[in-house]
Amino acid sequence: MTAHEHQAWSSGTYAQAMHVPQHGLSLRDAEGWHFPLDLERWCARADEADRTVLRRCTGRVLDIGCGAGRLVEALTGRGRRQVLGIDVCPSAVITTVCRGGSAMSRSVFDPLPDEGRWGTALLIDGNIGIGGDPRRLLRRVRNLVHREGLLLVEVASTDVDERRRVRIHAGQRPVSAVFPWATVGAAALNRQAALEGWTEVERWSSAGGRHFVALRACR
Ligand SMILES: C[S@@+](CC[C@H](N)C(=O)[O-])C[C@H]1O[C@@H](n2cnc3c(N)ncnc32)[C@H](O)[C@@H]1O
Repeated sequence: MTAHEHQAWSSGTYAQAMHVPQHGLSLRDAEGWHFPLDLERWCARADEADRTVLRRCTGRVLDIGCGAGRLVEALTGRGRRQVLGIDVCPSAVITTVCRGGSAMSRSVFDPLPDEGRWGTALLIDGNIGIGGDPRRLLRRVRNLVHREGLLLVEVASTDVDERRRVRIHAGQRPVSAVFPWATVGAAALNRQAALEGWTEVERWSSAGGRHFVALRACR
């Protein structure tokens, strides 16, 4: 993880928005592409679309890029004991812990607890884009879950497979340095996951137009 990437998420406008949710944050690139950072929804409770993900979690759950922690909160609230959020943004970790969850300030590429023993890993809210190289991320997560572990991924609504150089923006104003990000649709995810030890077991869409894929570790 580059210093720019780390700093973009761990300090400044995004980190502050964890405590005072701010409207209008997004990831944007030089070509006009943008991805809203929906802090209002992320700082709220898990919604019905999120619950379609939570219902599919099995075993110990690792929420990668947990942000404000609504999924960790919801799983913990359901009495699941072994749920951990990781995020490079210390404010996100504090927010998740204040919501009654467990969280650590770590990059997914750092050494993590219980590697190879997680039952389910989550990459929600576009987090398959972390690091800008989905194959590298899928390979890393493959080593975090146990041999029949599950990975639940939120994917783009269209059949895209894109690598971008983005900045966090507040409205039109860039508030971070440039860092890599990626977006993938279900088909592209399936292709890349198959090369990294995963097999697709389910695809579903929720009300409100969010799209998810379930991958099972296969070797
Ligand atoms: C698109 S946001 C999703 C936010 C989140 N799911 C939520 O509910 O608030 C991406 C999140 O991933 C975190 N992140 C970025 N790179 C990371 C990395 N290498 N390891 C762990 N977390 C990372 C960011 O700090 C940010 O909270």
